[in-house]
Amino acid sequence: MEDADDGRSVGSGARPMGAKEFQQLSEFIQNECGIKLPPAKKTMLEARLQKRLRVLGFHSFGEYCSYLFSSTGLEAELTELLNVVTTNTTHFFREPKHFDVLGAEVLAAWSARTGNRREFRAWSAGCSTGEEPYTLAMVLLAHQEASPGFRFSVTATDISTRVLQQAVRGVYSEDKVEDLPQAIMRKHFMRSKDRTRRLVKVAPEVRNRVVFQRLNFMEEFRLEGEPMDVVFCRNVLIYFERATQEAIVAKLCRHLRPGGWLFIGHSESLTGMRLPLHLHSPTIYQRRRETGEETS
Ligand SMILES: C[S@@+](CC[C@H](N)C(=O)[O-])C[C@H]1O[C@@H](n2cnc3c(N)ncnc32)[C@H](O)[C@@H]1O
Repeated sequence: MEDADDGRSVGSGARPMGAKEFQQLSEFIQNECGIKLPPAKKTMLEARLQKRLRVLGFHSFGEYCSYLFSSTGLEAELTELLNVVTTNTTHFFREPKHFDVLGAEVLAAWSARTGNRREFRAWSAGCSTGEEPYTLAMVLLAHQEASPGFRFSVTATDISTRVLQQAVRGVYSEDKVEDLPQAIMRKHFMRSKDRTRRLVKVAPEVRNRVVFQRLNFMEEFRLEGEPMDVVFCRNVLIYFERATQEAIVAKLCRHLRPGGWLFIGHSESLTGMRLPLHLHSPTIYQRRRETGEETS
C-alpha cells in the first residue's frame, strides 16, 4: 500500500507494546475513526506513539492506555491519537488523469448544461495537508477563465487537526512542487523570500477559494449548503474495512447531487456495494438520477 508508512517512526524509547495494549488501542481506533490496524501494523503504531508517550512522560504503553481510557485522558488525548494514527501521504495533481477528466469532461458538460447559473461545488473528503483541494481550486480557476460566469467553491475536510493546520497555511517544501509545470508554479505559488528555506506558499487567489473543516466520516455529519457536484475521496477508503467503506460512501452520496461525480483512489474499488452510483470509468462514478429528479 503506497500510503502505509510516511516515515514518522521516532525510534524506541518506551517498553514494547504488549498484545493486549495493541488490541485495546486498535479496537478503539477502528471504532473512533474507522482505520483498521491488523497485527502487522503493531510496529508502526508503536513507533508513531513513542513521541506521545515522551511528551506525556509515560514509560510504557500500559500507562498510556490507562490515561487514554480515563475520562480526562479521552477528552485530552483523542485528537492527538487520531493525528498520530492517520497516514497523510498526498501531493499536488496526484493521479493527474482525474483532473484531466474533471477539466475536459465534467466541467465542460456542467457549464453547457447549467449555463453557469449556479455555483459549482467541490469537496475534497480526506484532504490531508491540502494539496488535493488546492489542485481542485487550480483546475476550477482554469475553467473559470475559459467559461465566463463560472462560480465555484471548494470544501476540504479531514479528521486530523494536525494536517488541517498545515493545509490552511498552504506552505510546502520546494520538493513537493518540483515536478509541477512552470506555468502552474508561476501562476499559483509564491517562493519564500529567503531562498535558503526552500519553501513555497500557495497564492492567495487559490488559498482563499478553499474552506477547510474538521470532519470524521465515522460520525453523523452534515455539510452546510447545497449538495456537491463533485466529491474527491481518494486514498482514504483503503484504510477501512469493506462494510465501513460502504457506509462512508453511502454518506458521501447523500451529499452528492444526482448526476454528480465521485472520484476514488486508484487502489480502491466500490464493486459489489449497494450504492446509488454507476461506474463512468475505473475509479470515477456518477450518482444515479432517479426518474424525474432535478439534476442541475
Ligand atoms: C492518504 S491521505 C489522502 C489525501 C488525498 N485525498 C490524496 O489522495 O492525496 C488520507 C486522509 O484521510 C484522513 N482520514 C482518515 N480517517 C478519516 C476519517 N475517519 N474521517 C475523515 N478523514 C479521515 C486522514 O487523516 C488522511 O489525511
